[in-house]
Amino acid sequence: MKVAVVGATGMVGEVMLKVLAERNFPITELVLVASERSVGKKLSYKGEEYSVVGLADAVASKPDIAIFSAGGDTSTKWAPKFAEAGTTVIDNSSAWRMDPTKKLVVPEINASELTKEDKIIANPNCSTIQLVMALAPLHNKYKMKRVVISTYQSVSGTGVKAVQQLENEIAGIQGEMAYPYPIGRNALPHCDVFLENGYTKEEMKLAREPQKILDDRTFSVTATAVRIPTAGGHSESVNVEFYNDFDLADVRKLLSETPGIVVQDNPDTNTYPMPIYAHDKDDVFVGRIRRDETQRHTLNMWIVSDNLRKGAATNAVQIAEFLVENDLV
Ligand code: A2P
Repeated sequence: MKVAVVGATGMVGEVMLKVLAERNFPITELVLVASERSVGKKLSYKGEEYSVVGLADAVASKPDIAIFSAGGDTSTKWAPKFAEAGTTVIDNSSAWRMDPTKKLVVPEINASELTKEDKIIANPNCSTIQLVMALAPLHNKYKMKRVVISTYQSVSGTGVKAVQQLENEIAGIQGEMAYPYPIGRNALPHCDVFLENGYTKEEMKLAREPQKILDDRTFSVTATAVRIPTAGGHSESVNVEFYNDFDLADVRKLLSETPGIVVQDNPDTNTYPMPIYAHDKDDVFVGRIRRDETQRHTLNMWIVSDNLRKGAATNAVQIAEFLVENDLV
């Protein structure tokens, strides 16, 4: 496969290259792409050096697959140009996610929907991916009615500038601010921009994307998304009301038997998922599984995952693997 990584110099791009190498993705030619500022810059992949190229050159090189992680504007403008050249685009931005003509894919859940005709495939939001990974098996068995989620999101989800802001604050250095307030020793109930309805864009991604991925509009999701001073890994407190009753032991069994999920749940040994231990792992970790005693058929749980891996790079590479394995590219 001739593969282009668009946004190769960015935070997700860096993890993307690491994941492609680790999983030994069948690459015959690699095209590393970033903004004009980075053209000529050298990046290494599996010990070899590559020069970064611009987007126009990358389209002209007609890759089989282009994995985009360069922001919504770049995707909106350039993904269709790649698609027209015959390239299949896997896009990490929010640009195409809710477009009814594009698939929104978490491979473990709905990769089977993909066909050769899908030339732009959307990767869901990082917080959505780890949420639906845990919800999907439970929804299939007990049928969800309503989900209430509060997130505790790391600064790496915002990008390099935000990681730098946190590091500067810890070191006591005055520097550029990625957020409107300090993030160290703080919690900002503000991820992405505010919308007219008073929610943030991140909260509305969590409200809408799960319905599309699970292809079911009979349940609803309401969200509060909060940025906290962790370097990497998003955590989520999730309350799920089902139509049908469940047995807690069955819930644990079902989750632990689901590929991509690891249950870490033992109050006796203080065992529960935490972002520092989810770092650099591809799994979604679930713990604090308990019944909501205030309402029938309702479950509380805590979900943690590495937002740059399963939340972005790993999910995108898994989509690419599915395309190759099923001869869809
Ligand atoms: P560059 O390094 O040249 O700016 P992050 O989210 O970590 O800041 O990374 C964003 C990624 O998207 C980087 O690789 C960045 O490249 C790339 N990028 C940003 N704007 C553009 C653009 N207009 N065209 C192509 N790549 C872009």
